[in-house]
Amino acid sequence: DYCLYQDQLVPREQLKIDPEDRGYHFGDGIYEVVHVYHGKAFALSDHLTRFKESAEKLDLPMLYSTDKLGELVQQLIEKNKLEHGMVYFQMTRGISPRNHLYTRNETPVLTGFSKPLPDEKRESVRLYLTDDIRWLRCDIKTINLLGNVLAKREATDHQCDEALLHRDGTVTEGSSSNVFLIKNETLYTHPATNLILNGITRQITIRLAKAKGYTVVEEPFPKEVIKDADEAFITSTIHEITPVTEVIGDETAHFPVGPVTKMLQQAFAEEIA
Ligand code: PDD
Repeated sequence: DYCLYQDQLVPREQLKIDPEDRGYHFGDGIYEVVHVYHGKAFALSDHLTRFKESAEKLDLPMLYSTDKLGELVQQLIEKNKLEHGMVYFQMTRGISPRNHLYTRNETPVLTGFSKPLPDEKRESVRLYLTDDIRWLRCDIKTINLLGNVLAKREATDHQCDEALLHRDGTVTEGSSSNVFLIKNETLYTHPATNLILNGITRQITIRLAKAKGYTVVEEPFPKEVIKDADEAFITSTIHEITPVTEVIGDETAHFPVGPVTKMLQQAFAEEIA
């Protein structure tokens, strides 16, 4: 397989990463994950826009324009003859002797790879509800993901598929997904503040739900309401819209794979067809 290094497609064995890359020292960089359907990067311009916004928020210069970056992503897909899968790309603040202080003249380092994904996806997930111990800029898609990584391990150690996070009792999002509750045909999800990543799949789901006539309430809600919901699902680039059948941990709840979730899954399937 080929990988992306700056604006070159290089065989994976030839790709060299410098140990003094700030990505290694400090997790000083940003990334995106894009889903590839039928050989095309889905919602690529949304991902590129978010990438640029993450760069701006971290005072990181963009190595290339979003247009050029989009072309590189599509070239990687074609070079690897990828039909269904994902592309990961990241940009670090570059290579320099280890120092917390960054200067503004390093050249960022862009790397990326693609990977096939199975056609059948997970039918439902169980969530482990636990404390959100992350920093206060979860809106930035940074490669520094330790709070998410620890939560995922905790969830898996409790036989769950994904962690559901709450900050002082307010439900925020999953460790690598956004979460929606449904009550009386109304959707509830955390607003796009500094406390969550505003998922591209989240935004598409909100648009599809509104188009179907559902009300979407983007307001914080406490963990205690989880058990009163009729349905729940998570969204992410990889998992699309996936029903939640059970929550354990700091609250307990069971859900059917309900009609609103199914309707939205159907609408999403039409988007990617
Ligand atoms: N994760 N929230 C967090 C913390 C995430 O890491 C992600 C995505 C999402 C969903 O965003 P989107 O719909 O744009 O994929 C929400 C990616 C897939 C990952 O880290 O692998």
